[in-house]
Amino acid sequence: MNSDISGFYKMCLEDRLKLVKEFAGLEDAQIEMLRNTGNVDIKMLDRMIENLIGCMILPMGIAVNFKINGKDYLVPMAIEETSVVAAASHGAKLARASGGFTATTTEPVMIGQIQITRVPDPYGAKMRIIEHKEEILAIANEKDPLLVKLGGGAKDINVRVIESRRGSYVVVHLLVNTKDAMGANAVNTMAEAVAPFLEKITGGRVVLRIISNLAVFRLARASAVFKKEVLAKEDYGLSGADVVEAILDAYELAEVDPFRCATHNKGIMNGIDAVAIATGNDFRALEAGAHAYAFYAHGTYRSLTKYEKNAQGDLVGTIELPVAAGLVGGVTAVHPIAKTAIKILGVKSAQELAQVIASVGLAQNFAALRALATEGIQKGHMGLHARNIAASAGAVGEEIDIIAEKLVAERRIRMDRAKELLDELRKK
Ligand code: MEV
Repeated sequence: MNSDISGFYKMCLEDRLKLVKEFAGLEDAQIEMLRNTGNVDIKMLDRMIENLIGCMILPMGIAVNFKINGKDYLVPMAIEETSVVAAASHGAKLARASGGFTATTTEPVMIGQIQITRVPDPYGAKMRIIEHKEEILAIANEKDPLLVKLGGGAKDINVRVIESRRGSYVVVHLLVNTKDAMGANAVNTMAEAVAPFLEKITGGRVVLRIISNLAVFRLARASAVFKKEVLAKEDYGLSGADVVEAILDAYELAEVDPFRCATHNKGIMNGIDAVAIATGNDFRALEAGAHAYAFYAHGTYRSLTKYEKNAQGDLVGTIELPVAAGLVGGVTAVHPIAKTAIKILGVKSAQELAQVIASVGLAQNFAALRALATEGIQKGHMGLHARNIAASAGAVGEEIDIIAEKLVAERRIRMDRAKELLDELRKK
């Protein structure tokens, strides 16, 4: 058998499963597992992507302690990585001591990018586009009367001439307020709709018509004060002031070294992606926007968070990044778990969701820095990891806890050791 299968998408689910079973030599039990999509209707999943054969279930946990703009939130996070939910909860707890997070957003304005090539007079064309702004906006807005009725829609344009190795490109940005939607569909439809008119007035040829994930007009910002008194790590002989200094050094390396900065920002995205996944949002869009913004905002790759000491010697943490997350129009509004996650969060608008997401990113990063700058993260990580290793080694029920504890105590969290311990335990 080879993988050149035409019409796989037309097959019914059962035929697809049969084919994959034969191809990969799967057991009946494995096929059963694929077929069992738990509490989510398989027909709905089948409408979501092509060539469906099952679903991959991720754990979803709740980050506690979040207070944002004076309101309490339980934050659902879907993620496979140990310690992320605990760290976010811990970060939020330490922020809570001084009132929690303060968060704001800009209007939810997305950019639709239209690339015009082969324009004879790029700068003249730029002017003609600007002169025809109202017509361009009207063509775009005709595509989404509902969005316009809600107060959103295409609001403005900007135009640049970009020199490239293949000549000048006229690049038009359509600025669309997408209200409570993430907005990719609305923006892409509008970008496609205005393209013929742009070709007509520029004499050029449009190639790309697509959203930009560098959503610089859809920013979320959050801040928190972490009082030095709550940061002390007495068991490591560190006062609150010592921990503040250590965190500032840990943060500073991210600001001056891209190798550290990638990991630092990855830690922020641990929290952000987990909320995005739980709420059915496009975490790849958030990732792209965040890392691109980390570069764009400073002309070099920098931390998405900033830390400093206030007059009292407490740690002030802030975050600013694009957060293109929505409540309507995407998976969020149809996936039953995403809908439940939104209900748990209790957010009423995409902007409120973005404020939560930014606050979680800050809490996550702060908690990682505090752990890294003091005891290191392995201690916290290893408890659950050891349980996973014990279970993979074949331990069941109480055996898992007994073996995990021994692995941690010995600081040897390895499969071979887990198997040895399991043998010993069972011999007893
Ligand atoms: C691990 O997923 C994330 C961290 O590496 C982030 C960081 O180093 O800041 C702990």
